[in-house]
Amino acid sequence: MKKLLIVHGPNLNLLGKREPEIYGTRSLTDLNEMVREKAHDLKVEVSVFQSNSEGELIDFLQKEGPGATGVVINPGALSHYSLALYDCLQALRLPVVEVHLSNIHAREEFRSHSVTARAARGVIAGLGFDGYLHAMEFLVDQHE
Ligand code: DQA
Repeated sequence: MKKLLIVHGPNLNLLGKREPEIYGTRSLTDLNEMVREKAHDLKVEVSVFQSNSEGELIDFLQKEGPGATGVVINPGALSHYSLALYDCLQALRLPVVEVHLSNIHAREEFRSHSVTARAARGVIAGLGFDGYLHAMEFLVDQHE
């Protein structure tokens, strides 16, 4: 069975409480539930992981990458500066879709540049939770 990695970076554990006017009122648990339902519909396995630590995210990707067919990742603020995460995503040699809940191009200037996006097949920004579901559909189609 195909397997997608769904990876949430720093502060995404605060979804629902954190700046709800930007990120909405639903929680990370709600998001993960939607992701699991989608995985069921698409008949794929998912491995979901959140960490506030760059090293833990990299350890997870290094460990789980070899058995996976694709990665959906919201690196949070790490998108804007983590070359270590960029290197890790490049090394995976898997299709990666980077997702941002908010439209990073419509916010502070520093958010409009993502260093990790260079390792991604594509980027979805500003579509909220739906972005993850679209990313999953795309990745499953890549391996049909
Ligand atoms: C985010 C956007 C980032 O700039 C921010 O640091 C986040 C969340 C988003 O999903 O819109 O933590 O990745």
